[in-house]
Order: sequence, then structure tokens, then C-alpha cells
Amino acid sequence: MKKTIFSGIQPSGTITIGNYIGALKQFVELQNEYNCYFCIVDQHAITVPQDRLMLRNNIRSLAALYVAVGIDPNKATLFVQSEVPAHAQAAWMLQCVSYIGELERMTQFKDKSEGKDAVSAGLLTYPPLMAGDILLYNTDLVPVGEDQKQHLELTRDLADRFNKKYNDIFTIPEVRIPKVGARIMSLQDPTKKMSKSDPNQKAFISILDEPKQIEKKIKSAVTDSDGIVKFDKENKPGVSNLLTIYSIFSGEEIPQIEKKYEGKGYGDFKGDLATVIINELKPIQDKYNELMESTELDDILDHGAEKANLVAGKMAKKMENAMGLGRKRK
Ligand code: AQP
Repeated sequence: MKKTIFSGIQPSGTITIGNYIGALKQFVELQNEYNCYFCIVDQHAITVPQDRLMLRNNIRSLAALYVAVGIDPNKATLFVQSEVPAHAQAAWMLQCVSYIGELERMTQFKDKSEGKDAVSAGLLTYPPLMAGDILLYNTDLVPVGEDQKQHLELTRDLADRFNKKYNDIFTIPEVRIPKVGARIMSLQDPTKKMSKSDPNQKAFISILDEPKQIEKKIKSAVTDSDGIVKFDKENKPGVSNLLTIYSIFSGEEIPQIEKKYEGKGYGDFKGDLATVIINELKPIQDKYNELMESTELDDILDHGAEKANLVAGKMAKKMENAMGLGRKRK
């Protein structure tokens, strides 16, 4: 029997090449070998303020992007989280086995709440919602970028705690992090990860950016003053980040790329990098535009929600039974 994969992306903006490299690109390869559930996690997105019209738009746009990069709805189940009520049910039950202390220790919570006057309780309870997403589908493997590793460890702890305290119902999932590109950095501050919700537009390349924007953003990417194209994460974080992106988009190994730009400085390197990115994104953008104009997307998401509801609904019921919720009928 095929093993099961679950992974989600927040519709909190247009996905960046960081999300693409760290998550989506692997999904496309994995869908052939695994029973895959790919989710648009809109309930996660509202843990920080969202504009309702923009959110609706981002949900549809993210669905189109999943398909445009190569997710085949006949192979994988693609759905919107809020259209499967079991996710919110599971989240509540898992919140009741989570400790406030462990949630407060999550780096994402610390980063996103830093300097804010008011922080939603949802931002704190984001990890048990994510744990519910994963555990509802008897997931074996979760492909994510490096930033989600801590949440995955907590998911495993919560599953184990629930299994021991109530009933042994959850599969303990493994995390799968790509060897290269697990953490693509901001183009403006290479010590910070690239994020789709970064207020500085120059910090990320969105998968829907026009060629001119991509050229501009790469040109203004922070590097250093020594003019040598060399991978050295510690001393040359900006150039190293660009080399990683170049390598993934071109399929060339980093030493090969270093050799190609020996004695050439950053101008040529950046120009070619922009071209490599533009060439890979072009067919994705064309397919995306086609999908956004069609009704195909609604059929895909309706079908996905139906399939997900069947599986997730059963597990939510198992969780309720294990915890003793609801009535026992005479
Ligand atoms: N910079 C990154 N490099 C590699 N992988 C990344 N991921 C995110 N940023 C990078 C991976 O993308 C998947 C989807 O992420 P998400 O939307 O669920 O939330 P996130 O990790 O918080 O991503 P963002 O872009 O930073 O979103 P915002 O700005 O809304 O918080 C995950 O697998 C993640 O690891």
C-alpha cells in the first residue's frame, strides 16, 4: 500500500520561490509514489490579520498555483482546509493536550508576535491546528521547508501523548526536508528567511512576478563587496543564497556555477540567474493564467474536499470516541 503524505501552504500572499523550492517542487515529485493530500491552509492564514477579499483571492490563486506547478488532481487530493470541518475539530482536541509553555517556545510564534501590541490566541495555537491537519490523514511523511521542523517535532510529541493518554489511534509522522533549498533567504537580508508576507517586496521573488520585476529584484539583491562568486554561507550569505537558487533552477551543481563565473564579478552572474528563474516560471505562469479563467479549479477543489472529508471525518470521530466526547447511544 502507498504511504501517505500531507502538506499545506498558507494563502497569506502569493507564494515565493522559497515556498516553491522548499515545498511545492518536492510535492510534484512525490505525488507519483505516495498517496498525497495537499491543502490550502486558510485557517492558519487568519492567525494574523488578513483582508477578507484578498484572502479569498489568495485561496483561489494558491489552488491554481498547485495545479500550475504540476500537481495532478487525479493523483493527489487538493483541498481547502476550512472546507473540511474535521480540521477545526481536531485542532480543539489537540489544543487540550498541548501545554501553553511548549506553544510559547515555538520560534514561529516568537518571531510573529515580536513587537506586536496584540497577538491572537490563534497564533499561539497554530501548531496544534497543524498537528490536526497532519494526523487526520494517518500521514507517514510531511515534506516541508526547514522552518517547519520544530512544528513537526511538536506534532510527533502531541500524537505520541494522545496515543498514550487515550487510545493508540495516530500514526507518528516523519518529516522530510529537502537536502538543498530547505531555507531560501530574503534577498534583502540574507540572515532572514524569504517570506511571502514580508512587507518589503524586494525581499522575495513571487512565483507570479513579471520578468522585469525578477531582473530588478535579483539586481538589487544584497551581496558583498569582494566580487567573488563563491559558496560560503558564513561569510558570504547573500551570494550563497543566490548560488543555491541558481543551482536549483538550473540543475547545475554549485562548484560548476562557481567555475563558470570565475573572475567575472556579480553582474553576469545576477543577469543569468534572473534568466534561469524567468525561464522556469514562464510555463507555470501561463498555466496559472489559463486556470484562473476556467471553472476547472472549482471542480478540482469540490472533489478534493469531498475525498478529504471522508477520511478526516472518520479520524475526528475516532478522536472524539477516544476522549469520551459526545453520547453513547442506548
Ligand atoms: N524561505 C523558505 N525556504 C524554503 N522553504 C520555505 N517555506 C516557507 N518559506 C521557505 C516552506 O513553504 C511551505 C509553505 O509555508 P507556509 O505558507 O505554510 O508558511 P511559512 O512557512 O510561514 O511560509 P512563509 O512564506 O514565510 O509565509 P508567511 O509569510 O505567511 O509566514 C512550508 O513547507 C515551508 O516550510
